[in-house]
Amino acid sequence: MGELQKPRGTRDVLPEEASRWRLLEDRARQVAARYGYGELRTPLFEVTELFRRGVGEDTDIVGKEMYTFLDRKGRDMTLRPEGTAPAVRAFLEHNLGAGPQPVRLFYLQPAFRYERPEEGRWRQHHQFGAECFGAAGAAADAEVIALAVDFLRTAGVADFRLRLNSIGCPACRPAYRAALREYYRPLLPLLCADCQERFGQNPLRLLDCKVDTAHAAGAPRTADHLCTDCREHLQGLEALLARLRISFDRDPTLVRGLDYYTRTVFELESPRLGSQSALGGGGRYDGLVELLGGQPTPAVGGGVGLERTLLALEAGGAPAPTVEPPQVFVASVGEEYALEAMGVASQLRSAGVRVITDPLGRSLKAQLKQAARAGARWTVILGEELSRGVLVLRDMAAGVQEEVPAGELLTRIDKGVV
Ligand code: HAM
Repeated sequence: MGELQKPRGTRDVLPEEASRWRLLEDRARQVAARYGYGELRTPLFEVTELFRRGVGEDTDIVGKEMYTFLDRKGRDMTLRPEGTAPAVRAFLEHNLGAGPQPVRLFYLQPAFRYERPEEGRWRQHHQFGAECFGAAGAAADAEVIALAVDFLRTAGVADFRLRLNSIGCPACRPAYRAALREYYRPLLPLLCADCQERFGQNPLRLLDCKVDTAHAAGAPRTADHLCTDCREHLQGLEALLARLRISFDRDPTLVRGLDYYTRTVFELESPRLGSQSALGGGGRYDGLVELLGGQPTPAVGGGVGLERTLLALEAGGAPAPTVEPPQVFVASVGEEYALEAMGVASQLRSAGVRVITDPLGRSLKAQLKQAARAGARWTVILGEELSRGVLVLRDMAAGVQEEVPAGELLTRIDKGVV
C-alpha cells in the first residue's frame, strides 16, 4: 500500500482483538467501582507547561519523548504522555479539594511517548490509572496497589511480581542524593552517557540504569537514609500488604522515571514479558498538587498498561478472542425482495437482534453460504411466500427450515424453536 501506513509505534485494533480490549476495559471499570473510584476523562492534549512542571524537566518523558506542537494561535500544547499530571490539573480546576476527602479517580485512556518502538513499547499506549487525593496514610497506598493487583488478577494475569521501595521525602532525600553522588563520583568515567547527565540532574535515576546494573548493586540504599516518618510509612504499608495477602519484593534500586514521587514507589512486573516487563507502576506524590498551584494535598496513584496486560494474557495462553456472530442473516430471493429484507432486518434490530443482510444481490445459494460463514444462528429467507404473509426460517445448525407467519418471526427466534 506504499506510503500511507499507520505511524511508527502505533497499532490498529481489528474487531477480533477489540473484543479482548472491551473485556479488559469492562474489568477495569468493575474493579474501579468496587473500590469507589469515579471515572475521569481529560483532554487528549494539555498545555505543555503542565507536564514540564508536573512530570519534571529532567525526565526522559519531558526531555525526549513528548509530542509537542504549537496550535494555530501559537500556544504550546502536548499530547498527554501520562495521566497523573492531568488528573491533578482537573482536581485543582474543579476545586475537588473543597469536597469530601479522599477524592478517588480512575481513567482508561491513551498516552503518547516518542520512545523507540519494540514489543511492549509503543508510541501510543493505553493506561488504566487510579489516583487517590487527600489521604496521607499508608492505607491509601495499600488501596491503590490492591486495586492494581485486583485488576490484573480479575483480567486473568496469573503471575506477576510487585516490587516496592520508598524514595523518601524532601526532608531525607537531599542527604540520600548527596550519598549517591559521593558513591558515583569516582565511577563517573565508567558510566553511560545518559548516566553522566543524570549524575548532575537527578542522581536517583542512576540506580535505574539499564546499560550497567552492576554499579547500582553496591550503591547506598534508600532504606538506610529514610527519615523516621518515611520509614514508618513504609513499614505501615508493608504490614497492610501482608494483611491483604499481597506478596511483594523490597527493591532498593526501584526509583521510577517520573519526578513527582515521594516515599512509596511500586512496579508490577510480568515474568512472561521481555525487556518491557513492567505491567504497571505508581507511587505517592505528596508534593505535586502544591507544585501545580494547589494547597498541599497528599496523593497516591498508579497506572497499568493495557497493551502489556494483553501481551501477558496471550503469553499465559488466554483463549483466542472472538467476535459475536450475527444471530440472523436475512436473505432475499431475487432483487424484488431485497427491499423487504432491509425492512425485516431493521425490525429485528429494533428488537435488539444482531442482523446482517446481503448488500451485493447474490444468489440464494451464495447468501446461505455467507450466512453459514458468518456464524448466523438463523437465516430468514424472503421470497414469493411473502404474498401469503409467510417467510422461511432456516435453523442453520440443524439445517432444517419451515414456513413461519411474518408476525411470529421474533417470537420464534426468541424461543429458539423451528
Ligand atoms: P509509567 O510507569 O510511566 O507510570 O506507566 C505506567 C504503565 O504504562 C507502565 O508500567 C506500562 O505498563 C505502561 N506504559 C508506559 N509506557 C509505555 C509504552 N511506551 N508502551 C506501552 N506501555 C507503556 C505513569 O505513567 C504514571 N502516571 C503512573 C502513576 C499514576 N503514578 C501515580 N499515579
